[in-house]
Amino acid sequence: MKITIIGTGYVGLVSGACFSEFGHEVICIDKDKDKISKLQSGTVPIYEPRLENIVQKNAREQRLKFDTDASKAVPWADTIFIAVGTPSSRRGDGYADLSFIYDAAREIAPLLTGYTLIVNKSTSPVGTARQVARIIRETNQDAHFDIASNPEFLREGAAINDFMKPDRVVIGVETERAADVLKDVYKPLYLIETPIVQADIETAELIKYAANAFLAVKISYINEMATLCENVGADVIKLAKAIGLDNRIGSKFLHPGPGYGGSCFPKDTLALLRMAQENGSGVRIVEAAIEVNAAQKARMIRKIRDAVGGNEAGKIIGVLGLTFKPETDDMRDAPSLTILPALFEKGAKIKVHDPQGMKEARRYLPSGVIYMENPYQVCEGADVLVLMTEWNQYRALDLKKIKSLMRGTVFVDLRNVYEPGEMKTLGFAYFGVGRSG
Ligand SMILES: NC(=O)c1ccc[n+]([C@@H]2O[C@H](COP(=O)([O-])OP(=O)(O)OC[C@H]3O[C@@H](n4cnc5c(N)ncnc54)[C@H](O)[C@@H]3O)[C@@H](O)[C@H]2O)c1
Repeated sequence: MKITIIGTGYVGLVSGACFSEFGHEVICIDKDKDKISKLQSGTVPIYEPRLENIVQKNAREQRLKFDTDASKAVPWADTIFIAVGTPSSRRGDGYADLSFIYDAAREIAPLLTGYTLIVNKSTSPVGTARQVARIIRETNQDAHFDIASNPEFLREGAAINDFMKPDRVVIGVETERAADVLKDVYKPLYLIETPIVQADIETAELIKYAANAFLAVKISYINEMATLCENVGADVIKLAKAIGLDNRIGSKFLHPGPGYGGSCFPKDTLALLRMAQENGSGVRIVEAAIEVNAAQKARMIRKIRDAVGGNEAGKIIGVLGLTFKPETDDMRDAPSLTILPALFEKGAKIKVHDPQGMKEARRYLPSGVIYMENPYQVCEGADVLVLMTEWNQYRALDLKKIKSLMRGTVFVDLRNVYEPGEMKTLGFAYFGVGRSG
């Protein structure tokens, strides 16, 4: 099949690379000239395990191409996926900014020739796909197309595996022809018996938000339990293990931490809330999860402040990890972006390390933050060490060496990677999340 993807970000690039790996011919389009010229020369502009190999292999075999210009790629394609960003609106009211999707629709419309299936892969509120169809019809009355919604569930850091072996594929369609095209696109997944959920377009659009919001609720729930554990002297690790062993609850997403972040949960929970309010239905549980998440980040600031004696001014804070989770360079809405500026503003000196996120972090963190090349440099002279993101390389640190490099003894473990008892034996003042320090 001939597939064109509009928007070559995390989702567009992974989808394009994996579709070409399925054997389809793919052209990925992006407005960002720098991104496309890197991709044309075989360099992948984001960090995502295994992605570079797949991109390079399929580009070599001429199945995967990159361009800034859609004028040839649109008429050429049988299927066009829209995978542009849908960030929170700049007004700050929580609504999803759909302007990138609608701009893409306006760009595609005059270029369409022959029957084309236009698939919205971007996460966007109910009604967006129909708006795309309306824009296309208004711009090009001769266009022969169907519209579909195919939300994406990949997780950054595990995106290739998630795309190649998803738990399910959701297709929202209104014609059998559109369903047949999407079934052809995903044929290799049919062969490995991936569940395909076919729904109407509105349901498909809502499924993505409902799934993300449910996971956000689960994280906020365990974060609240962590606070309760600290206040009553209980251990959230044991608690999470025990409740997660109940199959109806499940063990995933029961890890307390500094709050959820990333490019999806924060904006998608807010957009779901606005969509629900606009349609006269409450989603108070989601609203509570959003509030708990904001409170969790604020609590982490207080935790670090209290750990250094109530005042961080003049203290050297070493930070390991900046991204919202390991195995990605994505810094969007990472908790570190709320926690570190608050400490910096109160006079703390902040030294940081992250295996992949430092380049992006420089764009968002205060300019006085100091970036180090390895985790041990972060520890040198630090009064307190904060483990912010559980990258594998922070799971087996030489703790004795760290202790000797630090000026202080405080270790704030926001991911509960280390054992409190062991840390105490080594002479650290240890503070986890939801367990006694
Ligand atoms: N990142 C994730 O983990 C993830 C997972 C599932 C779903 N999603 C959803 O997928 C969508 C895309 O997310 P992302 O993280 O890939 O975004 P991104 O910001 O990484 O990429 C979007 C890309 O689209 C390009 N673009 C915007 N308008 C364009 C246009 N008119 N023509 C060509 N290119 C254009 C931008 O230059 C950018 O490179 C969002 O709706 C997001 O919510 C993201």
